[in-house]
Amino acid sequence: MHVKHLTLSNFRNYESVELPLTTGVNLLVGKNGQGKTNLAEAIFYAATLSSHRVSGYLPLIRKGENKAIVRVLARFEDRENLLELELNTETANRARINKSDTPRVRDILGYVNAVIFSPEDLDIVKRDPSNRRAFIDELIVQLSPRMSAVYSDYERVLKQRNTLLRTAKNMTSSSSGLITLDSWNQSLIRIGSEIIATRFDVANRLAPYLSEAYAAIADEKNDPSIQLKSSLIATDAESDGISAQLVTGDKSEIEELFRERLSLVRHKEIERGITLVGPHRDDLLLLLGTLPAKGYISHGESWSYALALKLASASLIRKDARAGDPILILDDVFAELDSTRRSRLASLISHNEQVIITAAVAEDVPSELLSTKFKVTAGSLEAAND
Ligand SMILES: Nc1ncnc2c1ncn2[C@@H]1O[C@H](COP(=O)(O)OP(=O)(O)OP(=O)(O)O)[C@@H](O)[C@H]1O
Ligand SMILES: [Mg+2]
Repeated sequence: MHVKHLTLSNFRNYESVELPLTTGVNLLVGKNGQGKTNLAEAIFYAATLSSHRVSGYLPLIRKGENKAIVRVLARFEDRENLLELELNTETANRARINKSDTPRVRDILGYVNAVIFSPEDLDIVKRDPSNRRAFIDELIVQLSPRMSAVYSDYERVLKQRNTLLRTAKNMTSSSSGLITLDSWNQSLIRIGSEIIATRFDVANRLAPYLSEAYAAIADEKNDPSIQLKSSLIATDAESDGISAQLVTGDKSEIEELFRERLSLVRHKEIERGITLVGPHRDDLLLLLGTLPAKGYISHGESWSYALALKLASASLIRKDARAGDPILILDDVFAELDSTRRSRLASLISHNEQVIITAAVAEDVPSELLSTKFKVTAGSLEAAND
């Protein structure tokens, strides 16, 4: 798929802007702080209803305004759809498809697919479990948009269960609060197990593409792999992630594990007032050869790894998602890569249906990728094809 046109109103530093995009490579150039990433972010938001930079949508609304609009004309094969998102500070957000309101904002998912790669993606390899969960969950929502509702349900159940746990401390074992806890447990187990089973499945489907992408990007022949490290598996030493590896993707087996673990940690949960096991405490274990990527591999290898994760995501979406070939967005990436990886990356992406590249200086981008070019200056755009 590709986006033919993007219109923004009161989004980030744009009061109003029109961006006509082409298939193939679109280059956005401009000095720091002019609004290049903001454009990339708007397209990614239409694909995932999440930003690659912030959680929540309020920072996307232009300062001092109460409503931002993102409008995207998306084309897949011979069909075009006009998608519109209205982000509001005071009232609920709204979405429209071809000018009709959708019952829920998330109904807009599935029309635009996008994979963004930016320097922040090093965090997937190097930092906290939350970065890796966000990576796989974003991919899952693009592969099956209905999972978006499952994630919202899980968050709601988790929040209510945590509230209950905080008050449960003072209850006796026969009190009604603890009976309510048991019924929340059922929901937590059912919804949480669906998330865990889906992550297991998607990590497995991603794995062959990850090896392929890593081999195409990196110099050394070391094979990357992914495992799910689960809070459902008890470990003695927190540091030894490998032994907490989940080995089943079967939903009823996961439910069983979940139920057992939950009863084992019950007292601890009541003592601490939070939910200690479930997909919100899980992690992806990224390995390079036999070593965990985090804490072991070099900076350059981490770059290759993060890039390979994103290229692999694009391959999987291309193969399995409803709208096919995702838009590849490379935000500020070329300036960070050495010349070998620059040209390898260029040849890997040049045949993608649509690519959006941001760069402070066009010279950082390999010349075979130079085509449609826009200059971004302080929240306004001009075509800059020379
Ligand atoms: N909600 C907002 N309202 C108004 N301005 C905003 C808002 N959010 C961000 N900005 C401004 O948008 C500007 C452009 O940000 P953006 O990240 O797109 O720049 P960029 O062109 O990608 O720069 P760089 O090359 O440094 O990555 C920043 O100066 C920021 O202050
Ligand atoms: Mg930027």
